[in-house]
Amino acid sequence: MLNKNVQSALNEQIKNEVFSAYLYLSMSGYFEAANLPGFARWIRVQYEEELEHALKFFDFVHDRGGRVTLHAVDQPPSDFHSPLDVFQRALAHEQKVTGMINNLYALAVQENDYPAQVLLQWFVSEQVEEEKNATNIVEQLKLVGDNGSALLILDRELGARKGGGTKESSQGAAPT
Ligand code: FEO
Repeated sequence: MLNKNVQSALNEQIKNEVFSAYLYLSMSGYFEAANLPGFARWIRVQYEEELEHALKFFDFVHDRGGRVTLHAVDQPPSDFHSPLDVFQRALAHEQKVTGMINNLYALAVQENDYPAQVLLQWFVSEQVEEEKNATNIVEQLKLVGDNGSALLILDRELGARKGGGTKESSQGAAPT
């Protein structure tokens, strides 16, 4: 049976993961509007991964005999100023999420919840990856600076990111 304190904290984290998804969807919209489809795609895959994170917690709570209560999700920002601004904010956000995951892990240890510790170990590793990816792109964007050609090359590279559905697939098959 799932400890009530752990259940409550996991419920909160489901909301945080959905907010992360919402934040990335907002960022993806910024890139769509800026005609940078590769950045938009990379961030859209990120959005889909965050929904998967939320579902991992959602399923875990129910697998343990608990009950999820969904919380209200805040409106994400949309006042992005540049690709670098977006990725600096993505990195800051992921650093914040790392703190949340670490706190959850500490709670699972305190409550002797071993299954939650196993689940959270996956998230601890995932956060290392999340911070690394965002940091890499921040550093690349700093190198790009005001060079439009370099920005377009990076856009093409990021657009090759695998995962999730494409913008086209979500719009259905093209009419014949
Ligand atoms: Fe759910 Fe980006 O970590």
